[in-house]
Amino acid sequence: MTDLYAVIGNPISHSKSPDIHRMFAQQTGQHIDYVRVEAPLDGFVATIERLREEGFKGCNVTVPFKFKAFELAKDPRQHVRLSERAQSAKAVNTFRFDQGGLLFADNTDGAGLVRDIEQNLACPLHGRDLLLLGAGGAAWGVALPLLEAGANIFIYNRTASKAQELSHGLQVFLKREVYVESGLGHGLPNFIDSYATLSTQAFDFVVNATSSGLKNEMPPLPEALFKQGALAYDMMYGRETPFMEFARAHGARVADGLGMLVEQAAEAFFIWRGVRPDTRSVLDALRQ
Ligand code: ATR
Repeated sequence: MTDLYAVIGNPISHSKSPDIHRMFAQQTGQHIDYVRVEAPLDGFVATIERLREEGFKGCNVTVPFKFKAFELAKDPRQHVRLSERAQSAKAVNTFRFDQGGLLFADNTDGAGLVRDIEQNLACPLHGRDLLLLGAGGAAWGVALPLLEAGANIFIYNRTASKAQELSHGLQVFLKREVYVESGLGHGLPNFIDSYATLSTQAFDFVVNATSSGLKNEMPPLPEALFKQGALAYDMMYGRETPFMEFARAHGARVADGLGMLVEQAAEAFFIWRGVRPDTRSVLDALRQ
């Protein structure tokens, strides 16, 4: 018996997820197939229903449907268990279709980022100063897992009010042990309200969760942003962004988001199959 999974997006033809999951399946001896599904922009819920009727066991959700997936997961008429990390992200990227019409909805993006940074790049986050750039969907998606990893988080966004909103939005989800252990004080991530304030600080990690790279733009950043040995992480992959160039020119170690893509997939694979694949070989294969 081969179990079926899918990734739903629009557009979707560029998605690497089928390649990644097929490599995971081969490596772990799991009998699955994984396909791309393009949902019409106004047809996300209908597409989920169709996949369930067709006996799919689960799916990933990508742009532009992660918020729609979250809304579906909150709909009381659906029988959905929504993970805390999906609640904090206000977005869902993974569904598991269980027996009896039940759904489990999760978001593996933040866990994927944390795992890429800590395992693949071998940079522990605990107690380190991390600047999260941006306050859109991508930033919401990763903020809680970064905080739970014990990083001391600072949020900066072009539009300061949105950074403040994200910082406050996280408050609800903070567990006591997180801020006690990491010494976060109030348990709130710090938000930086102006470029002038940003210019007075330096960080061990700078994570670019803005969409500036898509437009080949550079978020405005001061020169002295990176501490000695800092890691600059762009959540985008597939091209060198102006942020990455800037970071390289200022002595930071630089990573793109390909590792996060593979790790969020591995986390989804684990949710579906209960087996954790080896990501290193898959990442190496994709890089070639
Ligand atoms: P996503 O889901 O990719 O995060 P989004 O919700 O539209 O997309 O959010 C885009 C983020 O990138 C926002 O934080 C945006 O800043 P604003 O809130 O000020 O709009 C940020 N962003 C996009 N282009 C940028 C640029 N050129 N410089 C700085 N920030 C930029």
